[in-house]
Amino acid sequence: MMASYSESVLRPVSSSARVHHAALGGADGREAYEDDEVVVQQLLAAGVPVRELVRARRAFYLRAVTCAVRDLGIAQVLDIGPGLPPYSTRDTHSIADEHHGFRSRVLYADVDPVVVAHWRMWTDGARHRAEVLDLREPDTVLTEAEAHFDLRHPVAVVLTGVLEEVAGGDSPHGCVRRIVDALPSGSALIVSHLTGEQDPELVGRAVEVLSEVGLPLYPRKFEEIAGFFEGLRPVGPGLLPVSLWHPTHADDHAPPVVHAYGGVGLV
Ligand SMILES: C[S@@+](CC[C@H](N)C(=O)[O-])C[C@H]1O[C@@H](n2cnc3c(N)ncnc32)[C@H](O)[C@@H]1O
Repeated sequence: MMASYSESVLRPVSSSARVHHAALGGADGREAYEDDEVVVQQLLAAGVPVRELVRARRAFYLRAVTCAVRDLGIAQVLDIGPGLPPYSTRDTHSIADEHHGFRSRVLYADVDPVVVAHWRMWTDGARHRAEVLDLREPDTVLTEAEAHFDLRHPVAVVLTGVLEEVAGGDSPHGCVRRIVDALPSGSALIVSHLTGEQDPELVGRAVEVLSEVGLPLYPRKFEEIAGFFEGLRPVGPGLLPVSLWHPTHADDHAPPVVHAYGGVGLV
């Protein structure tokens, strides 16, 4: 069941958006709650390179969204599970505005009402909106998408760092399929997803730390992640470790981050 606003604000345990925000850390002056920083420190103490992972995943998100709006020419973006706004760096609507001006439209959809409250303060509430929506209820997501977008034109759906928070029993593949099937040709799906394939023991420790603070995670194998793109045409290099998907000099760290796959598919 969805937490109420007051529960989300007052509960002592972290939310995934807040831990993610804390893990992205000081590089761009972010401030985190102490509770969230404690969780990040627990991950680091368990040997999990969480800062490198979230930064590489964030860099992938920025490159993939730019690819969708600039290279594929898509002006409408449904960003599901955006986490907290980065504030000091780029976000989905600033990228869409840069390339499409007043034609761009973004809908931020997150199950966490605190996340949505932050996006509502950060967006104009008209061309760019935020709604409390649950990916596991794709028909409700689509109803909001139909109200916000012109579905005669393509939409890019962003699902970065979200699907690993959805249990297999909640049919993540079926939910993504339901949304993608409703989109016109020329639309795109952007996914990044945690995997334990390269180092099951290390990713298992991350899962353990996070489950102890009430944040379950479900890493998946390459084939399962590729399954989100079934029937779509790969854009660019296909499904790869996030830091290898069209890397720029900013991702030029060795070794590459291999605990998350990322890809873009064309509808
Ligand atoms: C780790 S953050 C992802 C941040 C961001 N997408 C990125 O790539 O940097 C995960 C976000 O997904 C949201 N989330 C988790 N399950 C969700 C669901 N079923 N429906 C919508 N949002 C969900 C969480 O509330 C959180 O804000």
